[in-house]
Amino acid sequence: MAYYRSVGEVPRQRHTQHRDPDGRLYREELMGEEGFSSDSSLLYHRGVPSAILASEVWELPEQRTVPNHPLKPRHLRLHDLETGRDAVTDRRLVLGNHDVRIAYVVTGTAPSAYYRNAIGDECVFVEIGSGVVETVFGVVPYRSGDYVVVPRATTHRWVPAEASRLYAIEANSHVAPPKRYLSRYGQLLEHAPYCERDLHGPSDPLLVEGTEVPVLVKHRTSAGIVGTAMTYATHPFDVVGWDGCLYPYTLNIDDYMPITGKVHQPPPVHQVFEGHNFVVCNFLPRKVDYHPLAIPVPYFHSNVDSDEVMFYVAGDYEARKGSGIELGSISLHPGGHAHGPQPSAIEASLGAEAFEESAVMVDTFAPLELGEGGLAVEDEGYAWTWAADDSDR
Ligand SMILES: [Fe+2]
Repeated sequence: MAYYRSVGEVPRQRHTQHRDPDGRLYREELMGEEGFSSDSSLLYHRGVPSAILASEVWELPEQRTVPNHPLKPRHLRLHDLETGRDAVTDRRLVLGNHDVRIAYVVTGTAPSAYYRNAIGDECVFVEIGSGVVETVFGVVPYRSGDYVVVPRATTHRWVPAEASRLYAIEANSHVAPPKRYLSRYGQLLEHAPYCERDLHGPSDPLLVEGTEVPVLVKHRTSAGIVGTAMTYATHPFDVVGWDGCLYPYTLNIDDYMPITGKVHQPPPVHQVFEGHNFVVCNFLPRKVDYHPLAIPVPYFHSNVDSDEVMFYVAGDYEARKGSGIELGSISLHPGGHAHGPQPSAIEASLGAEAFEESAVMVDTFAPLELGEGGLAVEDEGYAWTWAADDSDR
């Protein structure tokens, strides 16, 4: 995110003395990606950011996955998934591979554990709900329809104001706008469907006093994904100021400007973010194709190189009518098998001028496997619904 931001008190020049009113030095911390060779921010702490008192095992919820074998399209009903109420520790794994994992949780109103993901950035889509995410950079408010992007290694916690349905896309890499949306110096270009004005980061420091603060860290070993509970001597949210281009932010789907065309536009025009080996797109309320003979729903397509995950968020998704898909559903359309609209949806879409649908898509370039949460709410009949739908013949 090459978009400079400065919050709170920072010294006039980097790596120079910055003192509190009593003359004590603040501790400068660089949070920098790719070693010292990519986006970074400089944070000024009251305490020592590395001072820990304990390090113990944090037992993660089940992270194992099973292959999509025998191969078939899947329908998972997330609204049937029972979860605990902690936005972090009670996430249930729905789908995953070595590049990205998708988990789901319905929070209560109690704050989550303090947490950071040391494996990759998190892009958490707020299906419904509101509250704030408290972070080492300050407070980020969230609301329904937000993507909340939390960079790798950012200590934070979720503080819901109401029960919130969170669709957590956990990358093993960074999550950022597609390169083709950016100028060579990193500004979002005119053809991009959103711009810097639509991205909302922290605006004030969050100064919290405290000692012996537990922070849960999700990280990796050669054996897979594991957790560690670290206890910090002083509160991690003790930053008096920071500046740089690395920080958490939100983007709301209402601020995303869909691109439409004379005939059906392919999913890449609906892209929002990219990570290593996956992309995030969204299909939002929009006017549709204006060619007199246009077919507004998609053509059948074989995702030669990707698995496609759709999460149906609002509206009645035109192409899936008659399939059993409803709000809160996920469809997984794997590579190696063509998919497309339900046959009856094609005729039904002719002449449509607008679609009132919202869905978030994750396309992965390596096969996805099923997590325990996904398997628990699978609609076993979905794979056969195209054959059952012959009403346009
Ligand atoms: Fe598709």
